[in-house]
Amino acid sequence: MSRTLPSARIRQLRPTTVNRILDEARQLQAQGKPLVSLMRGQPDAPTPPHVVDAVERAVRAGRTGYPDNQGEPGLRQAVAEKLARDQELTYDPGREILVTDGATQGIALALGVLLEPGDEVLLPDPIYDAYQSPIALWGGRAVSVASSIRGSRFSFDRAALEASHTARSRVLLLNSPWNPVGTVLTRAELAEALDFAMAHDLWVISDEIYEALIYDGRQHVSPAQLSDDARQRTVLVNSLSKTYGMTGWRVGYCAAPANVIQALLLLMQQSSRGPATFVQDAAAVALRGDQQGVRQLTVEYQGRRDQVLTALQGIPGVAAMKPEGGLFVIADVRGLGLPCDEVRRRLLHDAGVVVIHGTAYGPGGEGTLRISFAAGGATLERGLEQLRAGLLRLAGDRSA
Ligand SMILES: Cc1ncc(COP(=O)(O)O)c(C=O)c1O
Repeated sequence: MSRTLPSARIRQLRPTTVNRILDEARQLQAQGKPLVSLMRGQPDAPTPPHVVDAVERAVRAGRTGYPDNQGEPGLRQAVAEKLARDQELTYDPGREILVTDGATQGIALALGVLLEPGDEVLLPDPIYDAYQSPIALWGGRAVSVASSIRGSRFSFDRAALEASHTARSRVLLLNSPWNPVGTVLTRAELAEALDFAMAHDLWVISDEIYEALIYDGRQHVSPAQLSDDARQRTVLVNSLSKTYGMTGWRVGYCAAPANVIQALLLLMQQSSRGPATFVQDAAAVALRGDQQGVRQLTVEYQGRRDQVLTALQGIPGVAAMKPEGGLFVIADVRGLGLPCDEVRRRLLHDAGVVVIHGTAYGPGGEGTLRISFAAGGATLERGLEQLRAGLLRLAGDRSA
């Protein structure tokens, strides 16, 4: 065969940064170098036992056939109840909810349904890098919305949104709590973003996957809660991955107006029939059951966040930013006088600790590192010791 493989469309796709850095780390480990990872966004909490029991029961009960492709009615009902309970949102489980293979699929489907080739997707910068490839896959173009650090917190304003807008803008993609920077967008900030979307008739894709991991008594607000118009233009994407320690189960959902859900389903059916039927049964149990475990998890993660902040105190040239939600602390390392990718590389090779450089998430991340506290216990303790030692060495090199 003489034709180029893969196709031009696929040649635009990139592995996520986490996967690229994992490869680099594995090569070092294969050479015998011990490493501690403060990199991934995978909570170390196991799936709660009542959810594990539910999946076992479902498999034994023979719930192993094809699922309803839109999602098993019981799970769609549980999603509708969850959205009503936590966000006071009303979605019709018959027409306005789709069960997906995690938020990853929900986001890819939403982009596929909303974008015409050449359309632009406006994204705050820096942001979760895995949004880039599905935008390219559907012929779209990612356009950055500049953010800035105000009061030790990343945010963006109406002026930045307006500056990124062109006649081809079609979608505004929001993620709150916002990976990697940890900002939880306030109701007022969301209202400003939604006013902008309304003024320019944009769709909003709202990735709410870190919704439960919010600290210091803050509240998650979905853009769909703001007004009827906001609800009509929002595709709400969420999953059970982070909230219930279910990253490997691959189950999530979209909530949106019925015509959008119909199109998302049609697109999904070209490559999937949805998560396994028994997985969906257990997901319904997770959403419907006692949420005390989720609240405990949030307390645990807030404690880990504070542990990271303490470990980074008093390092010349390094200022840690206190995240309002999510699983990551951003450290401002501009004071070390090195590009952040170089800081990351030196920490990996010289201090044996794996973190991610901010520019992996866009140019707006220059001068920062993302430090994950998804893993706790001895891993976090050892990782923070090595991180602190590595950063102090770099600070010393600079002042020497
Ligand atoms: C912002 C964001 N969205 C989506 C995902 C992927 O979610 P899922 O496991 O539900 O596919 C991640 C995973 O890290 C994430 O950080």
